[in-house]
Amino acid sequence: MRSRSFDNKVVLITGCAGGIGSAHCHEFLSKGATVLGIDILAPALETLQQKLASPLRKKFFAEICDISDEKQVKQSIQSLLENHGAIDVLVNNMGCTETQCLHDSNSKNWLHEIHLNLNSTYFVTQAVLPSMLSRKQGNIIMIGSVNASMMLGSPAYSAAKAGLLSYVKSIAVEYGACGIRANMLSPGSVLTKAWSKRLKKNPNIIEELKAWYPLQKVVTPEAVAKAAAFLASSDAQYITGINLPVDAGLSAGTPPLVAAITNVSFSKSTQKIIQA
Ligand SMILES: NC(=O)c1ccc[n+]([C@@H]2O[C@H](COP(=O)([O-])OP(=O)(O)OC[C@H]3O[C@@H](n4cnc5c(N)ncnc54)[C@H](O)[C@@H]3O)[C@@H](O)[C@H]2O)c1
Repeated sequence: MRSRSFDNKVVLITGCAGGIGSAHCHEFLSKGATVLGIDILAPALETLQQKLASPLRKKFFAEICDISDEKQVKQSIQSLLENHGAIDVLVNNMGCTETQCLHDSNSKNWLHEIHLNLNSTYFVTQAVLPSMLSRKQGNIIMIGSVNASMMLGSPAYSAAKAGLLSYVKSIAVEYGACGIRANMLSPGSVLTKAWSKRLKKNPNIIEELKAWYPLQKVVTPEAVAKAAAFLASSDAQYITGINLPVDAGLSAGTPPLVAAITNVSFSKSTQKIIQA
């Protein structure tokens, strides 16, 4: 029987029309939640609405908002709270990067990426927190990245994601006694439109990346959404202030580096086990 663990719950998801955001919408809607989705792109929101199966669509409410604009955020959250009641779960999913390396960075693009990825998340969270605190319950999930703890390019984005983990810990410790839990999920590479430019340069990039992951695959948007649903559920009621990697093992180590160090190719030896 399908689990309906989020019946009567209201979940707010930012960047909801993107790859990982729309997977979150599907996941929480299919578990019974009412989903409030925020995105900057009206056409992408329409496409998402059309893609949702009709019974789920009835419980999905979209709001166009640029979350990097604090005034817009305050207005949008106010209107969502007035129209749909208290928010039980906030998934701070919106995030993006343009700058590949430090050498390409300057104070303009550095500040822009920190603003988009860190300050915007602060704007949304601070707008939602008072209503959670007044009910003494609430669950906040930040979609971070493996970039928060490893250098994988995109330095400003990475610094912002590392900042999000610190923010998660502040919320968890300061408001734990008020019934608020806050956690971060750190995905590895996930094939979404965020990869369009890199795919254009190298159409084989995702295939090539798989070798770097212990599980030899990249993460799916659905896998991130399922981990978020777990963290937001009562099964995770004692979990707060953590960073949960959803990264096909990347943060444990990379097989090619181990092969270079030990001169033993895991993939060759495991191929023998797979073929046996
Ligand atoms: N794709 C990956 O490989 C990957 C890996 C690790 C972490 N992440 C994280 O996952 C999250 C989602 O990434 P994705 O790959 O689904 O990205 P995506 O580009 O597919 O989706 C991002 C969504 O955010 C929306 N958006 C952009 N700017 C906005 C703004 N100012 N206000 C409101 N909405 C805005 C876009 O319209 C888009 O719908 C991000 O936080 C990202 O950092 C992604």
